[in-house]
Amino acid sequence: MAITETRSSEQLIQMEDKYGAHNYHPLPVVLAKGEGVYVWDPEGNRYFDFLSAYSAVNQGHCHPHIIKALQTQAETLTLTSRAFYNDMLGPYEKYVTEYFQYDKVLPINSGVEAVETALKLARKWAYKVKGVERYKAKIIFASGNFHGRTLAVISASVDPDSTKGFGPYMPGLEVVPYDDLEALESALDDPNVAGFIVEPIQGEAGVKVPSEGYLAKAKALCEKYNALFIADEVQTGIARTGKLLATCGNCTCEYSCQHKPEVRPDILVLGKALSGGVFPVSAVLADDDIMLTIKPGEHGSTFGGNPLACAVAIAALEVVENEKLAENAERLGKVFRERMQQLVDKSDLVNLVRGKGLLNAIVINDEETSKTAWNLCVAMKDNGLLAKPTHGNMIRFAPPLVITEEQLHECCDIIEKTILAYNS
Ligand SMILES: Cc1ncc(COP(=O)(O)O)c(C=O)c1O
Repeated sequence: MAITETRSSEQLIQMEDKYGAHNYHPLPVVLAKGEGVYVWDPEGNRYFDFLSAYSAVNQGHCHPHIIKALQTQAETLTLTSRAFYNDMLGPYEKYVTEYFQYDKVLPINSGVEAVETALKLARKWAYKVKGVERYKAKIIFASGNFHGRTLAVISASVDPDSTKGFGPYMPGLEVVPYDDLEALESALDDPNVAGFIVEPIQGEAGVKVPSEGYLAKAKALCEKYNALFIADEVQTGIARTGKLLATCGNCTCEYSCQHKPEVRPDILVLGKALSGGVFPVSAVLADDDIMLTIKPGEHGSTFGGNPLACAVAIAALEVVENEKLAENAERLGKVFRERMQQLVDKSDLVNLVRGKGLLNAIVINDEETSKTAWNLCVAMKDNGLLAKPTHGNMIRFAPPLVITEEQLHECCDIIEKTILAYNS
C-alpha cells in the first residue's frame, strides 16, 4: 500500500478514527502542506494557522533556514546516543546557554520530558544542596497548570480530563491557587519545599495572564524560603509573548535579548518552538550549582541532544533573532488585541480578549461546558482560519510569529465576520 496515494480529507479522518487511539478530538480538517502562516488541506484549500501547533511553529511552517539545517544534518549524522560525544552537541550547548544566559543545558525531547527533568533536578538539589530530609521533598504547582501528560505532572493537575482514571498519583506535590502570593508564601514556608513550578502565562487554562508583578514577587518569595523558581516556558517562551521569554517582563531589549529579565528563573524549561515545530526538541537550563547535582547515569534519554536536534535548534533560534520575532509578536499582539476589543464592544457573544504578544484568547459569553467555542472554531475553519478552543467558552489565538500586519488584519476580519454571523 502506497502511503503517498492521494486520499480525501474524509478518507483520512476515517483512517485516523479507525486505526488510531481516540486520545484527541481534532477539528475536522486535514492538513497536508504548510508554509509560513499558511496550511493546506489535501483538496488544496488554504487556511491561516492560528494555533501554530500550540506555539511550536513560532518561526512559521517549514521555515527554509530550519529545513536546510535539518536536511544537511540528516545527510551527515542523526543519532549517536549519549554513549559517545557528537560534534554538534557541544556547539549547540554553547549556543543555547549563551542565548538564554545560563551555565548549563540539559537537552531532551518533548516538553513534558523537560518538565520531568526540571522536577527531578529540583528534588536532587533539595537533597544535596538545601539539605531536605531523604524523600521528603515537595514541589509546589499552580492551580490550572498544564505541564504535559506524564503521571508525575498530571498528579498536580486539577483538570479531571487529565487525571480521571489514571491514579494513583505521585506524592510530594502541592497545588496552590495561581496568581495568589499569600497562598504561595504559606506553602513555601515549609523546609521540605524544593521549588515552585509555574507557567508565566497559563496557556491551556485559557491564556491566563497573572497580575502585574506576580512573577517577580513569586521569585522573591522563593528566594526568601530557599526554594527554586522553575518557569515552564514551553508554550510562552521563544518570542511568543513579545519578549524572548515571558519571564523577561518589561526588560529593555530592543532587537535581541540583552539578558536583563524581570525574573530570572532558577530552572528554565523550554520546548516546542526550540525546533520551530520541526520535531521534538526541549531543554532545561540552569546554573552549575543546580545542574551539577545530577551525575552521570542518573538521568537521560536516547534521543536527547542528538545531532539533528542540535542543528535544528540552532537554526530555529537564529530565525527568532534574525527575523526579530519577539518584536513582531509584541507589535502585532497589540494590533490583534485592539481589533478583538473592538469586536468585544460590538458583539454580545464575546466577553473579553486577553493575552500578551501573539498568545491571546477570547472568552465567549457562554458556559465553560458549552459547545459555542467549538462551533465557532468550525465556522472559522470554513472561513479559512484554524484555531482551537481551550475550554468550551475560550478560543486561543496563536499565529506563527512571522505573520505580517496585513495578514493579521485579514485574520481579524475572518474572526470578526464569523463571530458576527454566528446565530444571526
Ligand atoms: C506549558 C506547557 N508545558 C509542557 C507542555 C508539554 O509539552 P509536550 O506536549 O511537548 O510534552 C505543554 C504542552 O502544551 C505546555 O503548554
